[in-house]
Amino acid sequence: MKKALITGITGQDGSYLTEHLLDLGYEVHGLVRRVALEQPEHRLSRLRSVLSRIHIHAANLDSYASIFHVLSKHEFDECYHLAAQSFVAESFVDGFSTMQTNINGTHYVLAALREVQPKCRFYFAGSSEMFGKAQAVPQKEDTPFHPRSPYGISKVAGFQLTINYREAYGMFCCNGILFNHESPRRGYEFVTRKITHGVARIKTGLASELALGNLEAKRDWGHARDYVQAMHLMLQQPTPDDYVIATGETHSVREFCEFAFAQVGLDYRDFVKRDEVVYRPAEVDLLIGDASKAHRMLGWKPGVGFKGLISEMIQSDLEMVSPAARGELVSPGT
Ligand code: GDD
Repeated sequence: MKKALITGITGQDGSYLTEHLLDLGYEVHGLVRRVALEQPEHRLSRLRSVLSRIHIHAANLDSYASIFHVLSKHEFDECYHLAAQSFVAESFVDGFSTMQTNINGTHYVLAALREVQPKCRFYFAGSSEMFGKAQAVPQKEDTPFHPRSPYGISKVAGFQLTINYREAYGMFCCNGILFNHESPRRGYEFVTRKITHGVARIKTGLASELALGNLEAKRDWGHARDYVQAMHLMLQQPTPDDYVIATGETHSVREFCEFAFAQVGLDYRDFVKRDEVVYRPAEVDLLIGDASKAHRMLGWKPGVGFKGLISEMIQSDLEMVSPAARGELVSPGT
């Protein structure tokens, strides 16, 4: 039985990856902050259905010693490093802690692996945010990076560290360059969930408006459940490499709103208000990925499209805010 370690196991991607690896017969271990163990109801909620089948260890990405401690006690075949400060807007507020967690945290995991189990295969959660002010459309593995936020810069550093450990020490280290991926498990601060949750609250009378920032930004949105499968496939290849994971379709935040509100028979223009506060000092205007290398080499393809993703998120949020609102969708989407 293969053993995998997931940092960031409590997040959206960590929980889907856990389920995927359990289905494949893996023994799954996760690193969580100690505070998560003190508040399991809240902090481990995405793992509720699998908690009895996994192994949780307390460690902190700010502490090399705590990571080293776990890695020296258990041997792993694969390590998925997903933990990060992942909210781009927050990185403008506190760039220092974003850098500390995302760069040093990645370096600590790589250094500890090199020290105690250099044969363990390593996955780094790179991001399309690294392309930032995109130098080519669509973006693929050889598109130059031009990050536009402390978060994007920290991910470029993590990406380069991962390549450096591969080249310098011969370790099996891969970068996934994942474009935006969403689901009903997405955090409320990200725009997709903010919209679908907002739509559900408005539809059920719990709210009357939704305040958003830049509606013209365009993103390539896929489903997180599809994307974690690509992470796993990368670590099953004969040689380590880097892969773009994307749908190849782009939509604006405005289009997302339009379709999401229309799903419950509403017109977004009647409810969406402008909120200056959530505009970013530097924006990433257009992201659209070319995942042809992943199609070719990994046999990976996205399963859920833009409309199907939004329908699933709206349905889930309707059920969450009001169980009586089941069946409110106008059309199932595709
Ligand atoms: N969060 C948020 N809230 N974003 C808004 C809002 C709002 O009220 N209004 C407009 N936006 C715009 C943002 O300005 C941005 O252009 C876009 O919506 C998407 O924002 P997010 O959902 O916060 O995601 P992100 O694209 O910045 O980053 C996500 O995707 C990356 C991959 O490209 C995160 O998941 C990152 O961790 C990930 O690496």
